[in-house]
Amino acid sequence: MSPSLVLIMLSLASTAESLIGKPGCQTTCGGVTIPYPFGISAEGVNVNCSLPGFEISCANNHSGGLMPVLANTEIEVLSLSVMPRPEARVRLPVAWSCYNSTGGNTGFSYGTVELNPTGVYRISDTHNELVVLGCNTLMYTNSGPPGRYRYSFYTGCMTYCNDSGTAQDGKCAGIGCCHVDIPPGLTDNWMQFGSTTTWSHVDQEFSPCDYGFIVEKGYYTFRASDLTSMSVKQTMPLRLDWAIRARNIRSVSMSCAEAANSRAGGYACVSQHSECVNSTNGPGYFCNCTRGYEGNPYIVDGCTNINECERPAEYPCYGVCHDTEGSYDCKCRRGYQNSGSPKEKDCSPKFPLAAKLALGISLGISFLIVSLLFALMVRQKRKMNEYFKKNGGSILQKVENIKIFTKDELNKITKNNSEVLGQGGFGKVYKGILADNIMVAVKASIEVNDARKEDFTNEVIIQSQMIHTNIIKLLGCCLEVDVPMLVYEFAANGNLQDILHGDASRRVPLPLELRLDIAIESAEGLRYMHSSAKRTVRHGDVKPANILLDDDKFIPKISDFGTSKLLTVDKDFTMFVVGSMGYIDPVFHKTGHLTKKSDVYSFGVVLLELISRKPTIYGENLSLIIEFHRAYEQENSGRTMFDKEIAAEENIFTLEEIGKLAMECLKEKVEERPDMKEVAERLVMLRRARKHAYGQGNYIEEIGIEATPKSTSSSATLSAPSTPATKHISNP
Ligand SMILES: *[C@@H]1O[C@H](CO)[C@@H](O)[C@H](O)[C@H]1NC(C)=O
Ligand SMILES: *[C@@H]1O[C@H](CO)[C@@H](O)[C@H](O)[C@H]1NC(C)=O
Ligand SMILES: *[C@@H]1O[C@H](CO)[C@@H](O)[C@H](O)[C@H]1NC(C)=O
Ligand SMILES: *[C@@H]1O[C@H](CO)[C@@H](O)[C@H](O)[C@H]1NC(C)=O
Ligand SMILES: *[C@@H]1O[C@H](CO)[C@@H](O)[C@H](O)[C@H]1NC(C)=O
Ligand SMILES: *[C@@H]1O[C@H](CO)[C@@H](O)[C@H](O)[C@H]1NC(C)=O
Repeated sequence: MSPSLVLIMLSLASTAESLIGKPGCQTTCGGVTIPYPFGISAEGVNVNCSLPGFEISCANNHSGGLMPVLANTEIEVLSLSVMPRPEARVRLPVAWSCYNSTGGNTGFSYGTVELNPTGVYRISDTHNELVVLGCNTLMYTNSGPPGRYRYSFYTGCMTYCNDSGTAQDGKCAGIGCCHVDIPPGLTDNWMQFGSTTTWSHVDQEFSPCDYGFIVEKGYYTFRASDLTSMSVKQTMPLRLDWAIRARNIRSVSMSCAEAANSRAGGYACVSQHSECVNSTNGPGYFCNCTRGYEGNPYIVDGCTNINECERPAEYPCYGVCHDTEGSYDCKCRRGYQNSGSPKEKDCSPKFPLAAKLALGISLGISFLIVSLLFALMVRQKRKMNEYFKKNGGSILQKVENIKIFTKDELNKITKNNSEVLGQGGFGKVYKGILADNIMVAVKASIEVNDARKEDFTNEVIIQSQMIHTNIIKLLGCCLEVDVPMLVYEFAANGNLQDILHGDASRRVPLPLELRLDIAIESAEGLRYMHSSAKRTVRHGDVKPANILLDDDKFIPKISDFGTSKLLTVDKDFTMFVVGSMGYIDPVFHKTGHLTKKSDVYSFGVVLLELISRKPTIYGENLSLIIEFHRAYEQENSGRTMFDKEIAAEENIFTLEEIGKLAMECLKEKVEERPDMKEVAERLVMLRRARKHAYGQGNYIEEIGIEATPKSTSSSATLSAPSTPATKHISNP
């Protein structure tokens, strides 16, 4: 070992020593550390090794060794401590008293130890208890300055046992053993006995002696054998509290405040980072190092910083620990964080903010977008398939003369619904152009649900089979949408409603021949519809707005029948009568029973409009039907009602005949109305008659028109009425 190392070690040792006791003073004895203010005074040392009253002697023990004792006593010191509590652990003798079989006392000891009441020691009330052993015994201690009696404290307990067999090991509850807490402030250890007259020990060989002692709590465990065999020289460990009670033995005791202010000096808490604490057991004070420091507050610089990081059990840190003067820092490791303090709970990993932003946001957003798009696509596709199925796609796929368009195809055809043709029964009607440049009209059908699916598919099939020049042709449909879209033949000249009653700007001259043609061909369309072999079809909403006109030849095309009527149909009857005001058959209105004759009625109104070019309600709330009725009733002629444009004399006969035919169509009694076949035929005859007349001069005689109904046609009923854009009237 190098000399320098020895030197360092020596200096370290002396530094350590100096933190325990005064320089040059002995700091241990018999293996017990003697910290200042305790000290063992020695010859030739020119400092006082202890504070007054704290003197310790190093004495011979009975087996040739050394043991510290309280100076000038035989009280063995087991340990002395300054921090965290001021304590002296010592051994004190037990008190005892023994008896012979006749109850005579054969010897006793009070175990007396009197600690100077102005001195530093008090028996610790918190760490000790009083124990009494015996079988008919009262023992108590007394202490403190005089009060009403000689002492201010009396405490003790009594114990009894019938025979030796009743006491139990480990049980100190009044049978052979009792124990009791003690009050603070006890300066004396000595036991008093109850009088032997009261507490007889006659015939008590099983327990010849009584014992009493104060002992450290938890140290003594009762054994029944102790009643007979405990040595009268037995000592018991107990704890003493100590404090600086007075400047010297004669002076009065003082508190922290008094000590610190004392002009005479002698304040014991001399170290930096030390504090004064008032004594809780007796007067005086003691010193403590402040928080974060340890050592000896009674020595200059005796309180030293605690390296808390080396004692994780006492000073927890879940992060990185860093000692500081009087305290310590504890931070989470890089990349970790903690919502509270890492001294209290674990840190958890964190993303650096930048990375979080960069990665999190970009990843999050792109993931979101991708998954959103994907979900949308999947959903769209699924929805389209659902709609296709719901709308009866699997059945309609097999129908020959219609085409099933995909949604995409339809969007292409209508250029995403860019051109609106008008308002249909259930929504807008869009113009579309097929691949081969054929114009079409695309419009919404009814909404199809499971209940209506069959009706819808049937209707589409029927419509697809309605192939007639005067019926608008259903070309196809698109089922991949919620409400199926139907693709129809396009009629370039709009509808008859607009042509007859539209803006003046759009009005075209309509000679009677043209009007007759329109009437005839519309009637043909309806006749064809009514004569359909497969199923009785009724239009349900005949009116000029539903008679479309093709290109420049004004070929009428009946439209808006079928699907739009399904909604309210329940076989033959409908809960709601739907149709258009002014055209609706009053019988249908009353009964909810839609027949072919209902269409005839409506067509009658169309005829009146054709010859008068007046809407159903005109002027000041005049009804076209009522006015015609009145004219025919009063004058047997509709002359006043005819459109001036065509009311030339040579036309009057034709007009009158059409008017009369219309009046028949409008008959209240269903069976008095002609059927569509008859209407069409009579109109055709009128046209032929005119041609003849122009060719032969007397067409009237030739055809000999008789305005009489020839037959009452059967009023089969099945198809349904419904809806166009006009008013819905509910059936009472
Ligand atoms: C030691 O204590 C005595 C009184 O107990 C005192 O008179 C003396 O001055 C002290 N000596 C030193 C070196 O403090
Ligand atoms: C006496 O002292 C020696 C050495 O310190 C120790 O080994 C021994 O146990 C002590 N005896 C008693 C009775 O305290
Ligand atoms: C018991 O002790 C008393 C007093 O000490 C004495 O007088 C008596 O003789 C003793 N009895 C016996 C049996 O020893
Ligand atoms: C008490 O002791 C007497 C005498 O030894 C004995 O006869 C009696 O049975 C004991 N009683 C109880 C309750 O142990
Ligand atoms: C100590 O006790 C005194 C009086 O009993 C009191 O004035 C003082 O505030 C106490 N000091 C402390 C630190 O508790
Ligand atoms: C002494 O100080 C320590 C640390 O500051 C503390 O834990 C302890 O309770 C104090 N002792 C007393 C008796 O106040």
